[in-house]
Amino acid sequence: MRVGIFGTGDVGRTLASAFVTLGHEVKLGAREASNEKAAAWAKQAGPKGSHGTFADAAGFADLAVLATHGIANPEVLAAAGAERLEGKVLIDTTNPLDFSKGVPPRLAVGHTDSGGEIAQRTVPRARVVKAFNIVGHKSMFRPEYAGGPPDMLICGNDADAKKHVTALLRDFGWPEVVDFGGIEASRYLEPLCLVWTIYGAKTGSWNHALKMLRK
Ligand SMILES: NC(=O)c1ccc[n+]([C@@H]2O[C@H](COP(=O)([O-])OP(=O)(O)OC[C@H]3O[C@@H](n4cnc5c(N)ncnc54)[C@H](OP(=O)(O)O)[C@@H]3O)[C@@H](O)[C@H]2O)c1
Repeated sequence: MRVGIFGTGDVGRTLASAFVTLGHEVKLGAREASNEKAAAWAKQAGPKGSHGTFADAAGFADLAVLATHGIANPEVLAAAGAERLEGKVLIDTTNPLDFSKGVPPRLAVGHTDSGGEIAQRTVPRARVVKAFNIVGHKSMFRPEYAGGPPDMLICGNDADAKKHVTALLRDFGWPEVVDFGGIEASRYLEPLCLVWTIYGAKTGSWNHALKMLRK
């Protein structure tokens, strides 16, 4: 599969390397084709890795991944081009974090809207699935915990897209994937990123993940 990833940060590069490890081809997209982080990633990734602009990554993709600064998503998706994402699954890993009042950040939207819904409205013909936003990038691929595998919580409007992402998540080492319904459930999954962050800031440990217990 050809994967186009928007974002050159820890999440973009971590997922890019994970997809390559699983045998997929990846194009890492950035604002500028000359982005140094993207070029360095592609150089070490070997023949299955390449880089370019957001539009290049969107055009390349069978499946796309949004991994940019959350409040910039409308600009990123406009640059990628809604028409290049038509019909494609778009995994939204982002959280709409506002750092303007310091750390920990606040959510820039919530209660009545969410980053996931904004992404879906910006590219209405893409099939957006929120995933990966509740865990640190170091645990996104093959997470290992003494208490067993954590749960990945997802949501999105398209049932087939969620099936596809669930299968991918299993390849990534997430056997337990919990579907919370339509993309509006991002209103509740995005705050969980702050639960994760506040616990990390309080304990100084960033190796935790979430699990639902069931009887
Ligand atoms: N880090 C984690 O462990 C983690 C875990 C779960 C979810 N997330 C979420 O995943 C997303 C990515 O996180 P991250 O830590 O990898 O990186 P980040 O620092 O939040 O974002 C980095 C990427 O966003 C791009 N970017 C920043 N401002 C932009 C703008 N105004 N327009 C277009 N692109 C812009 C950067 O482009 P340049 O390369 O051009 O600067 C870079 O590619 C975030 O939404 C974050 O909340 C992060």
